[in-house]
Amino acid sequence: MSSHLSFDFTRMRSSSVGRWGASDAERKKIAPRLRDAKKEVLRIHESREQGWMSYPTDKDVGKKITSVVKQMNAFQTCLVLGIGGSDLAGRALYSALKPSKKKLVFAGANTDPDELFEIVDGLDLKNTCINIISKSGGTVEPMASFLYVLSQLEKKVGKRNVADHIVATTDPESGSLYELATKHGWAMLPIPRNIGGRFSALTAVGLFPLAFAGTDIQGIQKGAHQEFQAFQSESVEKNNACQYALLQYLAYTKRNQKIQIVMPYSAQLKEFGLWYRQIWAESLGKKVNRKKKIVNVGPTPISALGATDQHSQIQLYTEGPNDKTILFIEIEQFKNDLHVPANVFGMKELVQISGKRFRDILHAEREATSRALTASKRPNGTLFLKKITPGSIGALFMFYELATALSGELYDINAYNQPGVEAGKKAMHDILSR
Ligand code: PA5
Repeated sequence: MSSHLSFDFTRMRSSSVGRWGASDAERKKIAPRLRDAKKEVLRIHESREQGWMSYPTDKDVGKKITSVVKQMNAFQTCLVLGIGGSDLAGRALYSALKPSKKKLVFAGANTDPDELFEIVDGLDLKNTCINIISKSGGTVEPMASFLYVLSQLEKKVGKRNVADHIVATTDPESGSLYELATKHGWAMLPIPRNIGGRFSALTAVGLFPLAFAGTDIQGIQKGAHQEFQAFQSESVEKNNACQYALLQYLAYTKRNQKIQIVMPYSAQLKEFGLWYRQIWAESLGKKVNRKKKIVNVGPTPISALGATDQHSQIQLYTEGPNDKTILFIEIEQFKNDLHVPANVFGMKELVQISGKRFRDILHAEREATSRALTASKRPNGTLFLKKITPGSIGALFMFYELATALSGELYDINAYNQPGVEAGKKAMHDILSR
C-alpha cells in the first residue's frame, strides 16, 4: 500500500450529504464494474498497449536522462518548449518540487509574440540549453517557438555551436523533430510509442527538466511505482484511486454533478491543478463510446487554490447549483514553520490568530470549507499528503493517471485518444498552409 497518500471521502457519501452523495448500496451495486475496469487497466499494462504504468521501473530511463544532464552540464538554465502533455507535467513538477541547483524557464505553449519575446529576451542564451518536447514533432506552437529560439541562439553562439545546446524529447523513430535531431546531431530522449502525451509526465518529458534542475528523479519514479503497486495489490474497495474514480463517476452519472474541482491547499500544487485539468478533460471528454455510439460524455475539470479561492469560487460551490464535486489536497507538513506573531496590538479581532502556526491556520481553513460545503450538502473529499517530496509527487501523478484510466473504463470510452484536439490541429495546418 502507498504510504504517500490517503483519501478521506466520508463527505462524498450519502451518510454526510444525503441524496447528493453516494450510498453504500450504490457503491456495492457498481463494484463488479469497477473490478472489471481495474482488470482492463491491468490488461493494457501487461500487454504493453500502454507503457506509463511500468515506465517508472525502467532502469534505462534514469541512465539516459542522467547522461544527457551531464552533457548539458555547462548550462545554468534550461528553456523547456512544449504544449499540452509535453508541457504541463514539467511545469507542475517544477513548481511542486522547486529544485534550486539550476533554473527552468517554460515557453512554447502559446504563439503570443510578446510573451515569447520577453521570455527569450530575458535569457542568457550562451548559458542556456533548449529542451524542445514534442511527441509528434510537428505541433505548431512549440515548433514555431523552437525555430525562433534557434535563430536567436545562432546569433549568440554561432551556427557551429547550436547543436551543443539542444535536447529533443520526441518519438524515438519518426517525425520532423526526430529527423531534425538525427540530422543535426542533437541530444535526444525518447517518448515511448505506447505512452500518449498527457500520460507522459513521468517519462523524459517531465523528468529530464527536473533532473537538470537538480531533483532526485529516482524518488519520483519510486513514489509512482509504489502507488501503482498499491493499485495492483489492493481490492477496489480499499484502493484510493479506484474509489476516487468510482465516486466521481457516480456523481456524474447518478446526480448530474458534472463539474469536478481539484483544490490543493498548497501554492506549490497550483500548477498541478492545471495538469489535472488536462488529463481529466482530454482523456474523458469524448463524442463516442467504445461501441462508436454518440455519447458526448465527460466531466468538466476545474482547478482552484486553497485558501485563495475561498474568497472567490467557494461562494458558488457552496450556494450555487449542486452540480459539482470538490476534492481538496492537504499537505500535512510544510518546510517553513512560520508563526503569526503573538499579541500584536492587542486587538480583540486578531486574538484568534495570535501566535498560531500558518500551517495550522491553512489546515483549519480547509476543514472549515469542507464543513461548510457538507452543511450545504455538497460532496467533497480530501487527499492527504504527508509532505511534498519527490516520492509523494510521483505517487500523486500516478494516482491521477490511474484514476483517469479507470474512469475511461467506467465511461466505456477510449481515454487515450484526442480526436477533438487532432481536428483542431488539422484545421490549423489547413489554414496556415493556404
Ligand atoms: O495529451 C496529448 O496527447 C496532447 O495534449 C499532446 O501532448 C499535445 O497536443 C502536444 O503534442 P506533441 O507532443 O505531439 O507536440
